[in-house]
Amino acid sequence: MLKYYLLFTCIILVLQPMDAQFVANYDESKVPEFDLPDPLTTFSKKQIQTSSSWNELRRPELISFFESQVFGKVPGTLDALTFEVIEGSNSALGGLAKRRQVKVTITKNSKTLSFLMLLYLPKKIDRAPLFLGYNFHGNHTVNKDPDIIISKAWSLNNESMGINNHTLTEESRGMRSSRWAITKMIEAGYGLATIYYGEIDPDKNDFTDGLHSLFYTEGQKRPAKDEWGGIGAWAWALSRAMDYLANDMEVDKSGVIVFGHSRLGKAALWAGAMDERFAGVISNDSGCGGAALSKRKFGETVAQINNNFPYWFSENFKKYNNAEENLAVDQHELLALIAPRPLYVASAQEDEWADPKGEFLSAYYATPVYSLFGKTGIPSNEMPNVNSPIQNTVAYHIRTGKHDVTEYDWEQYIKWAVEQFD
Ligand code: GCU
Repeated sequence: MLKYYLLFTCIILVLQPMDAQFVANYDESKVPEFDLPDPLTTFSKKQIQTSSSWNELRRPELISFFESQVFGKVPGTLDALTFEVIEGSNSALGGLAKRRQVKVTITKNSKTLSFLMLLYLPKKIDRAPLFLGYNFHGNHTVNKDPDIIISKAWSLNNESMGINNHTLTEESRGMRSSRWAITKMIEAGYGLATIYYGEIDPDKNDFTDGLHSLFYTEGQKRPAKDEWGGIGAWAWALSRAMDYLANDMEVDKSGVIVFGHSRLGKAALWAGAMDERFAGVISNDSGCGGAALSKRKFGETVAQINNNFPYWFSENFKKYNNAEENLAVDQHELLALIAPRPLYVASAQEDEWADPKGEFLSAYYATPVYSLFGKTGIPSNEMPNVNSPIQNTVAYHIRTGKHDVTEYDWEQYIKWAVEQFD
């Protein structure tokens, strides 16, 4: 009997710490006390008082921390980058828009990777600003337009969209149109550029394929510990899309706003932080590793994201599993790296996994950096009511509903963009 009792106790003892790591906390009273690093104090404890010392001292050290410890560094530069407009129409979407499908080809170490960017631009404007964002299941899902080319790249299966065997088909055409208010964008004078993220790096735990593999040295099988994971690769390719957009005479290159939902919101934030050519950034429900503060440990935690998606971040990021207190940064500093450019953080009320309050506070705590540039951020740490956006240079809303991108979200983004870039 005693023997069984001891065995049972041992099993419980072994199981307990493991369980505790994976149970998400949704109770505000259990959020631990934590010290949030001050974005305006350097790692060597220097106070940043001017925008130029932010740019010269603090911004670079934060970028290099996020590079080596969080998202991972890009291991090298490209050998070649080419663009080809492979399809187009001057009368798409019932005559409202121009459509372009652009093949972007990356060459490195004699290997190539291509992705297709779909563009809709308002017909009435010569050089339009636009929203650039990845989609989850192929360009052809964003609209019913029969001319959108279906990607041959690997996709996550999605039963409700009829995606089986990791293959995209006609069946899912237009199925995600509710996430892309294209007509509203066009009517407001904005275009849309979208890319299927699976063409850059398939969203699975395999480093032998996708963008990473182009950069390997002889015999290398995976990135080094301080090198990029999936999010780093997706973010980097947004900048390659920007390389094209910056030279497209039909695009206003000073008005490219990078957007992303969820994991792709994490990628949009990181791209916007690193690449100052992006005029603004929109994070839709980006959560852990995106806009949400890690040190709150509310909803998804660093350990959970690294366990469920061990290929999204750098290997180094795993050091902070259940050790968020050791992180010398938090995600408000990722947001601050976007300053002084407009930034919109949005949450959904039922999306507790992404920690709406942590996303809001992150925008609030990034505000001192915006103030340094004379820009208005989030004025108070009181969360606004649902469906009551705060729209300054830093904007925030929490809407009713679940983890998604809705018409309501886009109405806010478009209104804010028009005001910010007028
Ligand atoms: C998972 C993951 C989140 C991510 C989300 C998504 O829920 O845990 O971090 O944001 O997928 O991309 O939809």
